[in-house]
Amino acid sequence: MRTSPAAIPVAPRLRDFKYAIRNIVAEARKVEAAGRRVRYLNIGDPAIFGFQTPPHMIAAVERAMRDGHNGYAPSVGILPAREAVAQELTGRGMPMSPDRVVVTSGTSEGIELALTALVDGGDEVLIPAPTYPLYTAVLAKIGARGVFYRTDPAHGWLPDVEQVAKLVTPSTRAIVVIDPNNPTGASYPADVRRALIDIADRHNLPLLADEVYGDLAYTGPVPPMASLAPDAPILSFSSLSKAYLAPGWRAGWLAAGRTDRLDDVLAAIKKLADGRLCSPGPMQHAIAAALTGDRSHEPRLRDALRERAEVTTRAFNGIDGISVVAPSAAFYAMPKVSLPPGVTDEDYVLGLLRATGILCVYGSGFGTEPQDGYFRVVFLASPSELTDIYAAVADFTRDFLSRPV
Ligand SMILES: Cc1ncc(COP(=O)(O)O)c(C=O)c1O
Repeated sequence: MRTSPAAIPVAPRLRDFKYAIRNIVAEARKVEAAGRRVRYLNIGDPAIFGFQTPPHMIAAVERAMRDGHNGYAPSVGILPAREAVAQELTGRGMPMSPDRVVVTSGTSEGIELALTALVDGGDEVLIPAPTYPLYTAVLAKIGARGVFYRTDPAHGWLPDVEQVAKLVTPSTRAIVVIDPNNPTGASYPADVRRALIDIADRHNLPLLADEVYGDLAYTGPVPPMASLAPDAPILSFSSLSKAYLAPGWRAGWLAAGRTDRLDDVLAAIKKLADGRLCSPGPMQHAIAAALTGDRSHEPRLRDALRERAEVTTRAFNGIDGISVVAPSAAFYAMPKVSLPPGVTDEDYVLGLLRATGILCVYGSGFGTEPQDGYFRVVFLASPSELTDIYAAVADFTRDFLSRPV
């Protein structure tokens, strides 16, 4: 009799590759299979909550397909898209030329290209805690190490700049700044941004500025970090996913600051970009349409988000045992529940899912400590739906916290 062959092994470094925002969906599917409706507050996708892609962007993609732009695009992206990004960044204070822009499959691919170009196995990259989990995931894939710097909920989730400076070692290769921030909803004042840039500049480290929420601060667009120091070694990343409401198109860009210190990094990024051929071609045609065309949806989107942020802050701060820092940008909040000893954020989030069908993501998926009780909420649903959801969270939390341990 033939014995069945052993399972084929996967690369051990993938043990550290985690992406809680999507991993947790497997649990939600089980809850759905048991007959309960799930409300997905785990993914920051405005399109699934009824925020519609501006029609002129759709028309631009449609036109591109009809006009026969269905072949491979240049690996750095089509010129009109790169020109539009350069013009946009220059207009916002980051002097930019199209040859320093690369069109990518979303911010995600830009980040992956930059980290792959910069970091070897065993190297370190400073990343915020909590972080958007793509950073830890990509670093795991490369075999490098994310070193967390604190962002402090007692100070509006601002980075602890002194700690950032102390964490730089000879193995550090880059500093990541996510501003405005996912998962906390914070946006950073100019003095904090300047202090972070100074650290990067002093140590000759590239600062990777994740600016995908740059248009979504409730008070209006935030200038790119590089506008504060155009000659500092800063790479800026963004996309059409959030403020332009087209996350499924995978259309984004990275832009390397004008300093020649970044020339080799940019060349390495372009070399890597050649290897993956191009980002989706027709969607690249929407970039110029988005950045140079009608943006009247943006103030409406910001107002809608501000209203939802207020509903969210009021609701969570009104629940015994929960507190939250009011977000000032994007569509995320990071409430904290005071957990009894021995209970984790994942226990709470899975309990909430199974009891109510409400799906959030546990904070440890973003790098907070499991016992600290953080969880992330995406507040893109309508204010009335959010109000119902938060009432159910309040009921569940009262029961959860009154259970004997
Ligand atoms: C901070 C941050 N960076 C990058 C991304 C990825 O965005 P994209 O769809 O442009 O790849 C996200 C998506 O949620 C994000 O929150």
